[in-house]
Amino acid sequence: MYSVVILAAGKGTRLNLGYNKVFYEIKHKTVLEYSVDYFLKDPAFSEVIVVTNEKDKMHVKDLLAGRNVKITLGGITRQESVYLGLKKVNNKYVMIHDGARPFIDKQDIENLKKTVKEKACVLVKKIKDSLAKHSFNQLKSYLNRDDFVLLQTPQAFNTEKIIKAYELAMANENSYSDDASLYIQELKEDVIIIEGNELNIKLTTLLDLKILEEVL
Ligand code: CTP
Ligand code: MG
Repeated sequence: MYSVVILAAGKGTRLNLGYNKVFYEIKHKTVLEYSVDYFLKDPAFSEVIVVTNEKDKMHVKDLLAGRNVKITLGGITRQESVYLGLKKVNNKYVMIHDGARPFIDKQDIENLKKTVKEKACVLVKKIKDSLAKHSFNQLKSYLNRDDFVLLQTPQAFNTEKIIKAYELAMANENSYSDDASLYIQELKEDVIIIEGNELNIKLTTLLDLKILEEVL
């Protein structure tokens, strides 16, 4: 059995809707509900934990009323929110997912489920454009895009190990924008990359919103 921690405690500043972007409605359903409902209908997930913030707590409770989810409060940073969500997990394996990614591909989830029994794993996207370092409006050096991947969610872990990694990161005062990066840096253990569906985009900008409106 698996747990999933779904993160929804952000503010959605970059999208600038005036409210948390996970509440944006596409086809009469909020972005947050798409991921919550995916995991609720997969019987392998016995626990769905939604991380919210103080301001949105009542709204999340109302929105998800009648669904079998645990709702818990997050923190100022994504990293704090993940840790607070992980503290509620009761299964051996946990997936961590951005509530702002409503397009979930079944094959991606099946790949993660299988792989996590051996090693931590993460969905990734390959880079299509060329890649370079820059500084003050000037290109500095070429990078081979084949050496890089873009990290997405869900990311899947053994629960005890990811909690340990989070505790090390806190003790070392290190911060990360995703969980797999934190895991390899703090625990020095392998993370397997799995190329995921290209439509698993994180709602961040208006362009993402337009794409998600087409594909959901
Ligand atoms: N998140 C969270 N707790 C935080 C910050 C972010 O749970 N303190 C969640 C967001 O709700 C989102 C996911 O982490 O589902 C990915 O973060 P991001 O896309 O950066 O969302 P926001 O922080 O809400 O957006 P922005 O950075 O534009 O303000
Ligand atoms: Mg953010």
